[in-house]
Amino acid sequence: MDAGLMDIFFSRSLVTVLLCFKCSYHPVPIVFSQAKGSSIWDPEGNKYLDFLSAYSAVNQGHCHPKILKALQEQAERLTLSSRAFYNDKFPMFAERLTSMFGYDMVLPMNTGAEGVETALKVARKWGYEKKKIPNDEAIIVSCCGCFHGRTLAAISMSCDNEATNGFGPLLSGHLKVDFGDEAALEKIFKESGDRIAAFLFEPIQGEAGVIIPPDGYLKAVRDLCTKYNVLMIADEIQSGLARSGKMLACDWEEVRPDMVILGKALGGGVIPVSAVLADKDVMLCIRPGEHGSTFGGNPLASAVSIASLDVIKEEKLAERSAHLGEELRHQLLKIQQQFPNYIKEVRGRGLFNAVEFDSKVLSPVSAYDICLKMKERGVLAKPTHDTIVRLTPPLCISLNELQEGSKALHDVLEHDLPNMQKVKPAKVSQTTTTTCNRCGRNLY
Ligand SMILES: Cc1ncc(COP(=O)(O)O)c(C=O)c1O
Repeated sequence: MDAGLMDIFFSRSLVTVLLCFKCSYHPVPIVFSQAKGSSIWDPEGNKYLDFLSAYSAVNQGHCHPKILKALQEQAERLTLSSRAFYNDKFPMFAERLTSMFGYDMVLPMNTGAEGVETALKVARKWGYEKKKIPNDEAIIVSCCGCFHGRTLAAISMSCDNEATNGFGPLLSGHLKVDFGDEAALEKIFKESGDRIAAFLFEPIQGEAGVIIPPDGYLKAVRDLCTKYNVLMIADEIQSGLARSGKMLACDWEEVRPDMVILGKALGGGVIPVSAVLADKDVMLCIRPGEHGSTFGGNPLASAVSIASLDVIKEEKLAERSAHLGEELRHQLLKIQQQFPNYIKEVRGRGLFNAVEFDSKVLSPVSAYDICLKMKERGVLAKPTHDTIVRLTPPLCISLNELQEGSKALHDVLEHDLPNMQKVKPAKVSQTTTTTCNRCGRNLY
C-alpha cells in the first residue's frame, strides 16, 4: 500500500479514499471535509493549510462569504436560462469582465479546457476569414511543456507522453516551440507564418513547474505576433486573476494579448466558469450557432463570477499576492541556503511559486514523498513531475500561515528527509521514456 495511505487506513477518511479508487487520479492522501480561507479540515477534524488552492481556483480563499452569498441569492432566483434565451445576470458579468480587462467582447464557457477549445476555434476562424489562410490549413503554435487541459485539442499540443499515449489520433495543425525562446518563435513564424493563425501560451507555465520566461519574452511575443499577423493568445487560466501578483501575468511586461483565456478563480472556487476575451474584429468571426455551451454564461455562474472579481479587487489580492510572494521566496531562499545540495532553484512571481529539487541528490525520494511529509506537518502542497513542489496558497493567506508553510518544508528537509532516503528502496531502472514521443525533446 502507498506509504501515505497507511496514515489514514484506520480512520473515517478511509471510506472516502476507497471510493476514490474508482477514479483515475493519484492524489496526496488527505480527505477534504471542510474549508475556510486557507484552512482545510479532514473528516476527523484535523486542520491543514492549503498550499495548492486547487491549482489557482481558490485564489480568493475557500468558501468566501461574499461569493457564497452571491451563489445563494442567485440560486434562489434563477440558475439557468440556456443561451436559447437571455438572462438578466450574464450581461452584467460580461460588462464587468470586459471593462475590467479592456476587451470588446467575452465568450463564456465552463471549464478551462473548454475556454482553450473556444479560443482555438475563434483563432482558426479568424485565420480563414481575416488572414485568408487556405481552407483547413491553419496552424496553432504552442510551447513545449505547455498544459492547456485534457480535451483532444488541448492534449494535441501536449508534450507529456502520459497525456497523449493511447488517445490518438491527435488533432493536426499544431507546431511546437520552446517556451521562452523568442528566436525559435521568430524562426517558426518566418517558415510557416502565412498559415499560422495563433500562438497559444501560458505567460507563466504552471503544470510544467512554475516556469518563468526570461525578461522581455512577453514583449517579444507581442512584437512578433504583430509583425507576422499571428494572434497572441494568453492562457491565463492558472496564472491570471491576481495569482502572479498582477491581475494578468502578461501585465508584468504590460503587453495586451489579442485573446485572453480565464478560468479557475473566475468561479471563486465554487463553480466552473471560464471565458475568452477578445476584440470585435476577432470575436465576431464566430457567428450565432457556430459555438456555444448550454451552461456557458448561466446566471448562477455569472453572479458567482461578479462576486469573485469583486473580491479580487476589494481585497487587493493582486497587491497581496505580490507582497506575500516576495516574503515567501525570501523564506524559501533561506531554506535553499541551508540545503543547497537538495534545492536547485526557488522561483516564482507573487504567490505562484515552486521549489525544484536536484533529482540525483534527492533520490530515491521524490517531490511526492516530500509532499506526503509536509502533509504530516499540516501543510498541503502538490508535486509536479518528480522533483518540483509547487507552493501556491490562497491569496488571502496570512503572513504567519505563510511562515508555517515554509517551516513545514524546512522541517521535512531537516528531520524527515535523511530517514526517508535510508528507508525508501532505490528506484528500479526507469521503464518509461524520458523523451517526448511527439517532438523528441527531453522531458523534465
Ligand atoms: C494553464 C491551464 N490551462 C487550462 C487548464 C484546464 O483547466 P480545467 O481543468 O478547468 O479544464 C489548466 C488546468 O490546470 C491550466 O492550468
